[in-house]
Amino acid sequence: MALLPPVPLSTLADEATAALQAAFGCTPVATAMAPGRVNLIGEHIDYCDGFVLPFAIDRYVVMTACLNGLEAIRVGSGSDKPGFQDRGVAVPGFDAWVVSSVPMGAGLSSSAALECCTATLLEALTGAALPGREKPLLCQQAEHAFAGVPCGIMDQYASTFGEKDRLVFIDCKTNEHSLVPFSDPELTLIVANTKVHHELSDGGYASRRQATETGLAILGKPSWREVTAADVEAQWNALGDPINRRCRHVVTEISRTLAAATALRENTIDELGPLMAASHESLRDDFEVSCKELDTMVEIATEIGGAGGVIGARMTGGGFGGSTVTLCRSAHAPTIAATLHDRYHQRTGIVPEIFSSRPAAGARQLTPLATQADSPS
Ligand code: GLA
Repeated sequence: MALLPPVPLSTLADEATAALQAAFGCTPVATAMAPGRVNLIGEHIDYCDGFVLPFAIDRYVVMTACLNGLEAIRVGSGSDKPGFQDRGVAVPGFDAWVVSSVPMGAGLSSSAALECCTATLLEALTGAALPGREKPLLCQQAEHAFAGVPCGIMDQYASTFGEKDRLVFIDCKTNEHSLVPFSDPELTLIVANTKVHHELSDGGYASRRQATETGLAILGKPSWREVTAADVEAQWNALGDPINRRCRHVVTEISRTLAAATALRENTIDELGPLMAASHESLRDDFEVSCKELDTMVEIATEIGGAGGVIGARMTGGGFGGSTVTLCRSAHAPTIAATLHDRYHQRTGIVPEIFSSRPAAGARQLTPLATQADSPS
C-alpha cells in the first residue's frame, strides 16, 4: 500500500484562493498556514509541568484573506466545521477562506492548527506580530474559551515552533522549548487514524486534568516535578482509585519522556520501543484515555515487531479515539502501513487512514512568491 503523500502547500493555497475569489470576488492580500502535530511521547502531562516531544506534521490548515472595507469578518470554509473565532484583536474587516489537510477529530490537532493559522493571518493583516510564546499562549486561550477544552500548551507550541526535521521538546513548567534533530531518512513515523472520532470537549479530558490536580493536592507538592514514583506508592491508599493510577501515569510518563529525549539525542533509537509501549499501557490502564480501536492498532504494530521493522507504537494525542504513531525503519514502512490497514480493517470493520509524516515547519505567512516556488509544476 502506498502511503498517502501530503497535499502540497501550494495546492492548498491555490484552492483557498480560488474559493475566496468565488465566494467574495476578491484577490487575497494575505495567506497563512499552520500544521497539525503528532506526539512521539509525553501524553497528558503538558498540563502537569511535564515534558512532551511532539512534531509538526506536513498536513496543514491554510487561510487566505482580502480586506473588505467593512467592519465585518466573513469566513468561508468547504468544511462542515469552520470553527473560526475572532480573538478580539483590532483588525480591519476581511473576508477569508479556510482549507485544511489535517484530518479532523483524529487527535492530530486540527483545532490548534486552525487557531495558529488564524493568529498568523491576523499578524499579516494587522502588521502586529505576536512574538515568541505569545502566539501559542493566545491560541491556547482560544481553545479554552471557545472550544471549551482546558488543554495544555503542547499542540499550539508544536504548530507554532515546529521545524523541518526537528522534534519540539517542551518543558511545560518553564514553557521553554528546544529542538531535537529527527532527520534520519532510515526512520519513518507512520500515523494511523483509527477513524474513531476523538472528542475532547465532552468532559473526559477535563476530568483527567481535574484528577491530576486533586492528586497533586493530596500529595501536598507544589509541582509534579517534585513528585517521585515512590511518593505516589507511599500515598496509594490516601489517593484512592482512580486518582492513584492517574498520578502514577503522570510521574512515569515524565520519566519516559526524559529518557526518550536522551535516546533521540544520543541516537540510541531502539530504546524508544519499550518507552512507547510502556506509555501506551499507562495511558490505557492507568490514565484510561485509550479505546479498543487504538489498542488494536498498537497491538498490530506490536505483532509486526522488530523483525518487521517496527521500533515502537502508541496512541498519540488526547485519546478517546484518534490516532496512533508507529516508529519504524523506512524500508519496511509501506509493508507496515499495509498490514496495519488490512488487519485493523479485518478486526474492527473500520477502514483506517494511514500516512507518514516527517517533521515539518510551523505556522508562517505564505507570500504569493513562496506559494509559486512550492508549486509542483
Ligand atoms: C490534547 C491537548 C494537549 C495535550 C494532549 C494530551 O491534544 O490539547 O494539550 O494535553 O491532548 O497529551
